[in-house]
Amino acid sequence: MNELSVKEYRVWDLPTRLFHWINVFAILMLMFIGLIMLNKSALGIQSMEAKIALKQLHIVIGYVFTLNLLWRVVWGFAGNKHARWPAIFPGKNFLAGLSSYKNSLKTGTPQQFIGHNPAGKLSIMAIYLVLVIMAVTGLIRAGTDIYFPPFGTIAAEYVVKDGADSAQIRPYDKTDVNLEKYKALKSFKKPFGTVHLYLSYLLMFLILIHIAAVVKAELSGSHGLASAMLSGRKRIAGRPEDIDA
Ligand code: HEM
Repeated sequence: MNELSVKEYRVWDLPTRLFHWINVFAILMLMFIGLIMLNKSALGIQSMEAKIALKQLHIVIGYVFTLNLLWRVVWGFAGNKHARWPAIFPGKNFLAGLSSYKNSLKTGTPQQFIGHNPAGKLSIMAIYLVLVIMAVTGLIRAGTDIYFPPFGTIAAEYVVKDGADSAQIRPYDKTDVNLEKYKALKSFKKPFGTVHLYLSYLLMFLILIHIAAVVKAELSGSHGLASAMLSGRKRIAGRPEDIDA
């Protein structure tokens, strides 16, 4: 194969692409509603009903986000070779591969990869880790804040007063709750809210880096990188580094 011949490679299978775009849409919605929740008073959202309705909407989209992520975890064991976890997590000689890739960027003829390039692997891994923590902290807060599944029943049964029906207690309503336990639940849930909030900022930053890296790669010769996540195919000039991977 001579250096300049362009060849098309099948890379992202359909489930991986569906995961990617459902994830993009869910995160944009969760960020948008999350920022409205964060700025409720500035936006004049005062009523308890509105506060709870916003959280309910955020959580329902959070369920879509979480189920999509769970599906991606499973697909990492069943998808094509570029969808599988070994294609994302650093393998043998990763650091050597990363520095040779970085050097190739400096030469102006970046090494080409069918799957993730070594730098891309690091950012994707960081993003997946943050997504998992966002899902877990969000689900915990969904239970402790407004008694939503999967942990809502546990939280309600913990705070309900003896002899009262835990199914009857309402979010932010102290009727039929044991005030001691209600206070304990509040301090238990606080760190999860803090992690959730600050990781959402980190996620915004990681997503901006991800987009900037794709745009930079597109501009420096790796054409069709973004469209590959729609078509599933990548056109690469020359010999890809991971052709035998
Ligand atoms: C990447 C995905 C997500 C992003 C970017 C995100 C973003 C946010 C933001 C910015 C807030 C702050 C609002 C505030 O502190 O008032 C928030 C709060 C919250 N999120 Fe998410 N979220 C995500 C996923 C989830 C998921 C999966 C769930 C649950 C299924 C969830 C449930 C909650 C709950 C219950 C709160 C209220 C916590 C509190 O008031 O501190 N979130 N989220």
